[in-house]
Amino acid sequence: MRILRIPPLGTRPGHRQLPDAGSPVSLSRRDCLALLAGSALLPSTASAQERFSLFVGSPQFTVDRMVKMAQLRDDDVVVDLGSGDGRIVLSALKANPKVRGWGVDINPTLVAEATANAKAQGLADRAEFFHRNVFDADISKVTVIMMWLFPELMRLLRPKLLAEARPGTRVVSNGFEMPGWEPDFTDTDGGRVLVWIVPARVQGFWNWELPVTGGAQRYEAMFEQRIQMAEGICRVGNRRGVFTEVRLRGEDLSFAMDITLDKVGLTRQEFSGKVRGDRIDGSVRVLFRDDPDLKAVTYPWQAERARTTAFFRPTGLDK
Ligand SMILES: C[S@@+](CC[C@H](N)C(=O)[O-])C[C@H]1O[C@@H](n2cnc3c(N)ncnc32)[C@H](O)[C@@H]1O
Repeated sequence: MRILRIPPLGTRPGHRQLPDAGSPVSLSRRDCLALLAGSALLPSTASAQERFSLFVGSPQFTVDRMVKMAQLRDDDVVVDLGSGDGRIVLSALKANPKVRGWGVDINPTLVAEATANAKAQGLADRAEFFHRNVFDADISKVTVIMMWLFPELMRLLRPKLLAEARPGTRVVSNGFEMPGWEPDFTDTDGGRVLVWIVPARVQGFWNWELPVTGGAQRYEAMFEQRIQMAEGICRVGNRRGVFTEVRLRGEDLSFAMDITLDKVGLTRQEFSGKVRGDRIDGSVRVLFRDDPDLKAVTYPWQAERARTTAFFRPTGLDK
């Protein structure tokens, strides 16, 4: 095991460049634990409730890859949770002159340094840095979340990210994984940058109507969800079907269902839409498998979240 030197008590955080996960040598779990143990020994400032990760600045080539993987758009708001000297936020702002950003760090000295760096680099009008615990950061209005934090801290942050960040928010990490949440993209081009897309919440009951069989036919669906992995089932009249090829990325949801319906026989129904709170808006393409002469039809699809479902109701009671 490599020995990592913990800065002497009371000194300003150094600018040592530990190998990041993109370098040939990456921090092992034992290294992480050593750092965690060391950091716990540091004196806390008045407002520091915890200090899980020491300051080590991400190497610029990793910062550049993180910014690239974030695929910045003009209206993006970028936050770095544990912003150190501000390099990630400032690099993002330089990459796109319309993007705004801010950072939080538990170490006030680093917050002052990041603020000075923003000023020196002419970015103070678009960048702000706050002395704050990552758990107290308001991430409800950001679109990109950057971080280089230990997996243990990321694990603790996971519920906050999923509950408070808007669906579609890109979460970008230098090297470290988020335990229990598979990344949507991994850049292994000489190292590792991981990207997660915060998924919309689809868990629960949803209802909609479609005129596939002529008149309006009610669909009673139920989704089960674990982070971005979703499964679904549905009742249409007295038939029940399973959703296949379910894909949830941010607010984009798509799935298919093969189901036999009265009057039209076997159908394949391909749904795609955007989940926004308690509504899904999109379209469904219906293919009629039992009648090759019938052309596929596309209908608008509008689903609403429901508190109860008829999915479990015994069949045969209604026509
Ligand atoms: C490994 S450094 C990364 C700095 C910067 N994001 C970068 O990649 O260059 C981790 C930073 O997180 C900060 N930090 C650790 N625990 C924190 C917490 N609970 N709240 C806010 N900041 C924290 C540390 O002070 C440190 O600056």
